Amino acid sequence: MKALFLVGFMGAGKSTLGKELAQRLSWDFYDLDEEIERIHHHSIPELFSELGETKFRVLEKEVLNGFETKTASFVLASGGGTPCFFDNMEWMKKQGEVLFIDTEPRELLRRLKGKESGRPVLKSLKPERFEEEMLILLGKRRPFYLQAPWILGKNVRNIDEVIHMLNS
Ligand code: S3P
Repeated sequence: MKALFLVGFMGAGKSTLGKELAQRLSWDFYDLDEEIERIHHHSIPELFSELGETKFRVLEKEVLNGFETKTASFVLASGGGTPCFFDNMEWMKKQGEVLFIDTEPRELLRRLKGKESGRPVLKSLKPERFEEEMLILLGKRRPFYLQAPWILGKNVRNIDEVIHMLNS
């Protein structure tokens, strides 16, 4: 059984890439946000507003840790904040491979601006200072993402190389 965890900012493309990788590897694909919603019967924005971020992060960690019991190989697209809380990054590294999807900040801004709905963390940014605040958040999170042993575009250049790395 092998596991690949994808980390990166909102809009980086974790789910899109994760689905493609899982399909090519014939592994299962999971999206952590979808798993949280399925298990807790509420959407991510509902959980954020009902519980607050602190308690949401506890739920997120619990659902993440539940992947320990999987018996078939899988790719998991984590949430943008997942590796930045508790020991989540260390835990993922112990369970399998971790790949950082290092999408350019300009591209992230392009994808996320005006797409705040369904993303409570973006909604909490001041609209008139959206770009600046998003880049500050990205800067705070980057050191966590960089703890991933694999970085797309750096030590693995493309999907073929990710697959090769997983099979070797
Ligand atoms: C979050 C990212 C979201 C989701 C939640 C919080 C974050 O996941 O987990 O809204 O803190 O960056 P995506 O990265 O899949 O949008």
